[in-house]
Amino acid sequence: MNFHILTLFPEMVEKGLNTSVIGKAVDKGRITLKTHNIRDYTTDKHKKVDDYPYGGGAGMLMQAQPVFDCFSAVREEIEKSGGKSRRVIYVTPQGKRFCQSMAEEFAQEENLVILCGHYEGIDERVLEEIVTDEVSIGDYVLTGGELPAMVITDAVARLVDGVLHNAESAHTETFYHDLLEYPQYSRPEEWKGKKVPEVLLSGDHKKIESWRREQAVSRTQKRRPDLYEKYERSSRCEAYLLQNKLHHIDMLETIRRGNAEILYFGEEGALLYEKNSGAYMITARDEESGKRMISHILPEGRERLEGVFSDFPGNSNREVTLFVSHQEFMNDFLCRQFGLLVEMECTQAVYTRKEPLPVKKGMDIRKLDERFLPVLKEHYDTYVEEGYVEERLKAGVMYGIFEREDLAGFIGTHKEGSIGMLEILEAYRNKGYAKALESFYINLHLRNGWTPFCQIKTGNERSFGLQKSLALYPAKEKLYWLGADESLV
Ligand code: ADE
Repeated sequence: MNFHILTLFPEMVEKGLNTSVIGKAVDKGRITLKTHNIRDYTTDKHKKVDDYPYGGGAGMLMQAQPVFDCFSAVREEIEKSGGKSRRVIYVTPQGKRFCQSMAEEFAQEENLVILCGHYEGIDERVLEEIVTDEVSIGDYVLTGGELPAMVITDAVARLVDGVLHNAESAHTETFYHDLLEYPQYSRPEEWKGKKVPEVLLSGDHKKIESWRREQAVSRTQKRRPDLYEKYERSSRCEAYLLQNKLHHIDMLETIRRGNAEILYFGEEGALLYEKNSGAYMITARDEESGKRMISHILPEGRERLEGVFSDFPGNSNREVTLFVSHQEFMNDFLCRQFGLLVEMECTQAVYTRKEPLPVKKGMDIRKLDERFLPVLKEHYDTYVEEGYVEERLKAGVMYGIFEREDLAGFIGTHKEGSIGMLEILEAYRNKGYAKALESFYINLHLRNGWTPFCQIKTGNERSFGLQKSLALYPAKEKLYWLGADESLV
């Protein structure tokens, strides 16, 4: 990933970021960090970049011209290297508050441009012209945008593959989502009369895990009631879905992996929005309950059910193009309401154990990059929209199995989190490659702290057989993908 920081003080940003973990990531080539001095682009002969604001007022404003020319040069540089400057962030106290999910979103980009302001701000016209996101790091005013740019760069860079050790990233992204960290202790066992909590010396990992979770929960409750409320809501929704774990595994994992907006849950069922795929997921007690839940995401329903949306402003403005329906009785209504079609009927199967699966010795399994796009596109002909395979490759979730240097098969994670896209090329079938590849991949999900699951299309008996041989349990009930793309039916 490439960070491009537009600033009047490049040395400040460079000094701040070229050390420690981020500096090492730059040295290792995991990320690039380039600063661009806005002053180098001014056409003023005295190198001036600011002027008085029209209408009067305190201080000076950065002018449009040098900012725009600096950005244009950066954009050209990005495009020359085959990239796109899709997100241009302006750091400002007027922006949307920066948070972890925003960092995760930015980490999906290949190039991130960050514009730092100074003085009293920047001429509005150039902001309108080039900026896609205005972001604030908190409700206080700093002297310039360099520190916020550094904060954002650090938070995003640490999410890029290979910047942190795997174990570290898994730790923050799964089990403890929405909770503050539990307290930690190192040697000596006793310091100034204070002892390390007994349980941590016990060697009993189950007990340690549950102690840490309790600590994380009680800390969050005391220190961050806002976060606690979110956590508590997720926990109650999870408890509801756990009444049928196998059938609801997609919804459960969406919540646990931090990708869910819980729009509604209660006795009637649950309704989520999955942020990666843009899919709505619904499970309903009966049709009437389902319809009532759906009314929560319709604009007119917003009025009728005042209060329900208070946590999620803006939901009803989203276009609904994808629905995962967990009961057939909802399908007709959903299709009519949102102009969708039933694209696929499938069964979820879940790997419920914690132990990794054995992977046959000598199997050559590697992560795939974009060079493999043509071969993947040729062999993956299942129901996906245009650009899906490319996006999955870019997301770094596709793995291949090789015979010498030849790709024999591949597997990946779908946007909403299920394991899938498994294909063994014809010449390499019946060699145990599918089993090896899926076992390897299940272990990868386990290492992230996830519960591996897949969705088997009705009628795909080979897949049923494979899942059974790997001890994935199928749900009794069916699941339906409803989409807007006729070509996929
Ligand atoms: N520039 C000055 N103060 C800022 C803040 N709090 N967040 C982002 N940019 C800023």
